[in-house]
Amino acid sequence: MRGYSKLSNWLLIPLVVIALGLSAPALAQDDDDSASLYQRLGGLMPISVVVSDFLDEMIPDPQLNENPAIDEARQRVPVAYLKYHVTAFVCEATGGPCDYHGRGMRESHAHLNITAEEWDRMVEIFVEVLDEHDVPEQESEELLELLGTTRDAIVTS
Ligand code: HEM
Repeated sequence: MRGYSKLSNWLLIPLVVIALGLSAPALAQDDDDSASLYQRLGGLMPISVVVSDFLDEMIPDPQLNENPAIDEARQRVPVAYLKYHVTAFVCEATGGPCDYHGRGMRESHAHLNITAEEWDRMVEIFVEVLDEHDVPEQESEELLELLGTTRDAIVTS
């Protein structure tokens, strides 16, 4: 029997090693540092709600609509279409499973003559909506950084 229990101890070691090896990546998935921004935001459901509320605030905004090109476009382009595209864009950009098939940022905003002041107003609205939804500081910062990468393509005036 002593020989048997010694043998089982030796068998246990590789089993424990394998179990640790399997559980380590699973634990790492839950760790904030390695989870994608998409995962940390909670996936498509909360992302689509934040985008929807953001556009509901942004589209009627009087400061943005002082720009006649923005005003013309928001009256012509259905909000549902914009919500769909912006959600897919954010989902893909944050590492989610979506494929954005809309136009590029330069092409879709070129005719809107968007100024730096209008950009700042949009960011202000975005931050308000993130706060309303209690998006944590780290994730809000990463979203703002992502947004910032599109600025050069969008601000043309
Ligand atoms: C001041 C800032 C912005 C304003 C005023 C604005 C306004 C608009 C308007 C009016 C359209 C429709 C244009 C048209 O079809 O004629 C549009 C399209 C779109 N915008 Fe923006 N936008 C702004 C910033 C952004 C940012 C930062 C993003 C992404 C992070 C974004 C993503 C999109 C997308 C995905 C579309 C649809 C593209 C397509 O039709 O294929 N926009 N935007």
